Amino acid sequence: MCGIVGYLGTKEAFPILIKGLHRLEYRGYDSAGVALVDKDGNLNVYKTKGKVANLEEYCKDKDISGTVGIAHTRWATHGEPSDKNAHPHYSQSKNIALIHNGIIENYLTLKTFLISKGYEFKSETDTEVLVQLIEYMMQEHKLGLYDAVYQALSQVTGAYAIGVIERNNPNVLITARIASPLIVGVGEGEFLLGSDASPIIEYTKNVIYPEDRQVIKIERGKEIEIRSLDNEKLIKPEIKQIQLSLDDIEKGGFDHFMLKEIFEQPKSLNLCMNGRLQREQKEIILRGIQDYGERFAKARRILITACGTSWHAGLIGKYLFETLCRIPVEVEVASEFRYRNPVIYSDDVLIAISQSGETADTLAAMELAKKQGAFIYGICNVVGSSVARLTDSGTYTHAGPEIGVASTKAFTTQVCVLAMTALALAKRMKTISEEDYHRIVGELCNIETKINKILDQTEKVKDISKIFTYARNFLYLGRGFNYPVAMEGALKLKEISYIHAEGYPAAEMKHGPIALIDEEMPIVVVAPHYKMYNKILSNVQEVKARKGRIIAIVTEGDVEIRKQADYVIEIPETEECLSPLLTVIPLQLLSYYIAIAKGRDVDQPRNLAKSVTVE
Ligand code: F6R
Repeated sequence: MCGIVGYLGTKEAFPILIKGLHRLEYRGYDSAGVALVDKDGNLNVYKTKGKVANLEEYCKDKDISGTVGIAHTRWATHGEPSDKNAHPHYSQSKNIALIHNGIIENYLTLKTFLISKGYEFKSETDTEVLVQLIEYMMQEHKLGLYDAVYQALSQVTGAYAIGVIERNNPNVLITARIASPLIVGVGEGEFLLGSDASPIIEYTKNVIYPEDRQVIKIERGKEIEIRSLDNEKLIKPEIKQIQLSLDDIEKGGFDHFMLKEIFEQPKSLNLCMNGRLQREQKEIILRGIQDYGERFAKARRILITACGTSWHAGLIGKYLFETLCRIPVEVEVASEFRYRNPVIYSDDVLIAISQSGETADTLAAMELAKKQGAFIYGICNVVGSSVARLTDSGTYTHAGPEIGVASTKAFTTQVCVLAMTALALAKRMKTISEEDYHRIVGELCNIETKINKILDQTEKVKDISKIFTYARNFLYLGRGFNYPVAMEGALKLKEISYIHAEGYPAAEMKHGPIALIDEEMPIVVVAPHYKMYNKILSNVQEVKARKGRIIAIVTEGDVEIRKQADYVIEIPETEECLSPLLTVIPLQLLSYYIAIAKGRDVDQPRNLAKSVTVE
């Protein structure tokens, strides 16, 4: 939700800021803007509704200069997408400019106070309140920028990552965070900030990951200064190295990040399993289970919480843990879990799943469970993210940066981590036979090759996709391990093609959705050959009897469902508990190509943003 970039150094800041905004555009793209202090000491703001490309167009004939600047790409919360609501926001005197990712919860109280002091507001945003409050602190209490930001933030509740610059002091850039992501790059004579590392890595690998409630002063030619909002104490900056390369954040010859990320899945699963899966011995060594296996084994329940695609992975986790470890599991979307006063026992284990590690509802659910004594285990992709910091233990998915707004490789690596965790735990708890354990682990070793076999059928999926661009609704059906896959397929389709789709447990169809089926209605059936095959075959026949158009995902060599289906996509045979790793691939491709055929912007679908840092 919103991307922020900042630069202070010796180079012209504008191109660096624009490039940074392009890299962060996945976080929001309804308006964009930059602010720079130029060589004549003017603080100029350029901003416009729409994508970063619009901002570039708007700026193209302007003489923009300055070696200090801030920039923002927005996903609207307070106030519609418009020029005036775009960031950066000026203070009343236009001496200060500010960018913000997050929400100022008490902005109405602060705004009323500032209006009573004669401040006028130009936008409908919560952000403008903060920049005005900083100016008020400077004027009323005769403070410098750093102290004024500090004092203003002491009065603010909510979530933020901010960047602030001042007309009269082009040598200073202030930043701070609470519950919104922020990274500070420390280069040779230059500093950068970003909502993630992508605007930074081209210039330096040395970074600081600010903690919550820290206010940071970046000053030309000086050491970075960090103060905690809790006790004013100075904190020594700890410089870390980013493990990311430019290739990781570029499209690498693919038309879209989403397609690149679909095709990256064999590699990302390999990285995810690397060092954890011993291929020769057919063993899984997971630090989390080595160190905390006892805590899991003694758990009264496992609770899984997440949002969106990560929640779908969590639903597969339920099947995995209950089947393999015989531990009862409850899975709930984090936004419901956090507000319904759930019963949490101190001997529960809560698994939180998040690609970004910054999803506000997931973080709040974790905090709630932590307060009530549960053991918190995190599964997330972004190293050093808020989820990673809140956990007692956990496993990174190591999928590499996921930039396409629709989650693909994050999902398969999350399922892979859940499968490895459940297998390692089942072995430790002796709820699985040695033979079954080694057979399933052996099969995990083959998954990359099998995914490649599915990717080889891309042209076929593309052809099928073209037929279904007319559809206004889709139904996805699956059973058992593949019921959450049906839900994931439906989510992928609706978010990037804007076709309404629902994922349903196949047998539930008779209890309502069957009424929707007619000769127009496409039904995607996830029907690999496992113990429920005959049951799902009956469901397919029920659809056929009502003239629905069936696209079936079946196991290679399938005979029966093929007879009923209009189109068939085959997946290689595998263990049932690992089958979601394969069945989801054609569904990702199907939604991608339908969206492309409909001319949609798949990497930046309307109204969405990658990382939902507001509730
Ligand atoms: C769907 C999608 C979202 C995310 C959800 C959770 O393609 O990307 O549904 O899965 O917003 O995000 P994370 O996993 O970052 O917590």
